Amino acid sequence: MRIHNKQYTTIWLTADDELQIIDQTKLPAHFEIVSLKTNEDVCRAISSMQVRGAGLIGVTAGYGVYLIAKNFSKQKIWKEYMQEECHKLLNTRPTAKNLSYALERQAHIWQNNAPDEALPKLREEALKLAAEDIDFCRLIGEHGKKLIEEIAQKKNGQPVNILTHCNAGWLAFTDYGSALSPVYTAFNAGIPVHVYVDETRPRNQGASLTAFELAEHNVPHTLIADNAGGHLMQHRKVDIVIVGADRVTRNGDVANKIGTYLKALSAKDNSIPFYVALPSSTFDFSLYDGVKEIEIEERNAHETEYVTGYYYDENGQKQVREVRICPEKTKGLNYAFDVTPHTLITGLITERGIMEANEKAILTLYPEAEKYINEIKQ
Ligand code: MRU
Repeated sequence: MRIHNKQYTTIWLTADDELQIIDQTKLPAHFEIVSLKTNEDVCRAISSMQVRGAGLIGVTAGYGVYLIAKNFSKQKIWKEYMQEECHKLLNTRPTAKNLSYALERQAHIWQNNAPDEALPKLREEALKLAAEDIDFCRLIGEHGKKLIEEIAQKKNGQPVNILTHCNAGWLAFTDYGSALSPVYTAFNAGIPVHVYVDETRPRNQGASLTAFELAEHNVPHTLIADNAGGHLMQHRKVDIVIVGADRVTRNGDVANKIGTYLKALSAKDNSIPFYVALPSSTFDFSLYDGVKEIEIEERNAHETEYVTGYYYDENGQKQVREVRICPEKTKGLNYAFDVTPHTLITGLITERGIMEANEKAILTLYPEAEKYINEIKQ
């Protein structure tokens, strides 16, 4: 990904082994890099959404475990200490599967190694989690591009109109993104594309992050109010919907940013293909019925009662301001995610290819999950 014409990832270790991130709460007004030194810093970064998006949450947690081990003092008991600190990480945000996926990968290391041996291995595993995240997202782009290309072939040079919700681009991962990766791959290959960007209340990740990414990459896009998608679909202004995912059950039910379900209903009613892009780290094979079984994060109502934006002060300097949008007496309610049943989903785009959203199709591409599923069914 390029920001201000410089190559970045969303998280990295510096030459001095310092963990750094792009502070996403400051975008699009300001581009700021922040260092994370302790597990407290990492937990705060995830909870406050300085880093967010399922993939990036997982990769950050992977690095977080390395920092925990780095800050271990011999006065403490290794496994007790690691358990307690990793538990704090696990509790930061409940819905994205990628978080526990990364913690489980790291747990194999700290549970089976003494501190001195574990430390370099935890560092290596954190880097591997980040590299895999990048690789998987790049492959999602390759597979998803074919869908866009097929539509483009029928449009005689007219741009393919893609609607997306929230931010499932490079800012939600280490690089490339999930839902936006096919868009970038198609755009880079010269296929004409145009993206309708849902603003994505309450935190407006569409307006502040997806639009930021697309603008940096010069991809044609238009910001729309969350409620506009249905109207655009009825009027055939959307060719395909592609969204990301925070947790996907083995039968293909998808938890994603609140409002995704409504877009899927609209797409179904208007026979518009609705795809979900995800790396395999987002699958939760232990769950079947997403509506009943996926834990949905409820965030502070403050986020629904206020909006944040920027303006230019009298000296031409950008200033960020938060304003209340409802009466003082009114209370908000803030579910961060919803579940789209698999019956509304045309297909899942993963690093291994595109499949229907059902258990049989998922297991055809991920046969190694079958053993685990059989065990938990007993
Ligand atoms: O609350 P956020 O900003 O972490 O939510 C992000 C989304 O819902 C994305 O669409 C999702 O994580 C899928 S892409 C990683």
